[in-house]
Amino acid sequence: MNTPSTLDISEPEKQKKHIVTDIDALDLSTQKVLTGMRPSGKLHLWHYFGALTNWITLQNKVKCQFLVADYHVLGERTEDIERLKENVMDVVMDWLSVWIDPEKSDFVVQSYVPEWADLAQYFSMITPYSRLAQNPTLKNEMKQLEESWQNEALSLGFFGYPVSQASDILLPRANLVPVWADQIPHIELARYIARTFNRKFGNVFEEPRALLSPVSRLVGIDGNDKMSKSLWNTIMLSDSADRVKEQVMKMYTDPNHFRVSDPWKIEWNVVFTYLDIFESNKEILADMKYQYQKWGLGDVTIKKHLIQLMNDFLQPIRERRAYYETRPDIARDAIEAGSARARKIAQETIEVVKSKIGIQRY
Ligand code: TRP
Repeated sequence: MNTPSTLDISEPEKQKKHIVTDIDALDLSTQKVLTGMRPSGKLHLWHYFGALTNWITLQNKVKCQFLVADYHVLGERTEDIERLKENVMDVVMDWLSVWIDPEKSDFVVQSYVPEWADLAQYFSMITPYSRLAQNPTLKNEMKQLEESWQNEALSLGFFGYPVSQASDILLPRANLVPVWADQIPHIELARYIARTFNRKFGNVFEEPRALLSPVSRLVGIDGNDKMSKSLWNTIMLSDSADRVKEQVMKMYTDPNHFRVSDPWKIEWNVVFTYLDIFESNKEILADMKYQYQKWGLGDVTIKKHLIQLMNDFLQPIRERRAYYETRPDIARDAIEAGSARARKIAQETIEVVKSKIGIQRY
């Protein structure tokens, strides 16, 4: 059930100085943030706990650009491309619903700022093929795409998306990138590219650091290591109260439990993984765990408790979502304005980059 994790980070990784886990330890006055998501539709709880919580904190402290990486979906699933418009709006509306504020940070769409493609082109010239071919996250994703029946052939664009991601980060000269752990190889590539560019053409870029979320993983409702729409094991931020109930009732608990009176296990118990996040009263939580292990507190009892907590948490988000759905111009204006501001900075960087490289009117 619990497949080996690609999300775990090892101790040696944590020691790396370009991997930051504690926002408070940073000198935020020197930080510039860019992070993003591929627009693959509505967001789920793992997007929230694995990423958006950090964004919410950061938007109050530093200049941030939040990117809808629409180029990145072009290289993969074709059914997503047909729904691109809807998917972009879904992502932006979910950001708005969880209080990410376009007045504080810029919401930007990759394709609205063509300088991203421009910079990626230059970067691709200084990126060794072998470095991409060895990128573990990319290798993993390519394998999955190759195995999936939908995919005709792996595109060059997909193979090169980590280079495009380096461009995402470096174009606004960001130096801090909130991401999940599987993105670390991409941040390392961006660092390599920044370093190589500076060495070849002169100092332009800072080597960015990765900021990891305090919650390093959130299993799906089936106990699978990754919550993902393609695995059908998600709870979406916009799910109705009934749907949340349904999903929690399906959650995987202890497979070896047969009688109510048997003591049950809490390790690998999905309900407790979620309660660890949603039950802020640690005494109640500790007591439930104790009772559950000792006397077999019923699955339904703990599930009902979780349903209540989860719906309390999601209700205001749903209400905000309903508000934005009836006013799509708010989302649209946010990405127009944010992208226009991003473009200004982008053009400045591109000017510098071109002059350093020696690209000019010949
Ligand atoms: N590749 C990231 C993901 O799949 C999304 C992304 C695109 C991104 N561009 C980025 C993340 C730039 C951080 C910075 O989650």
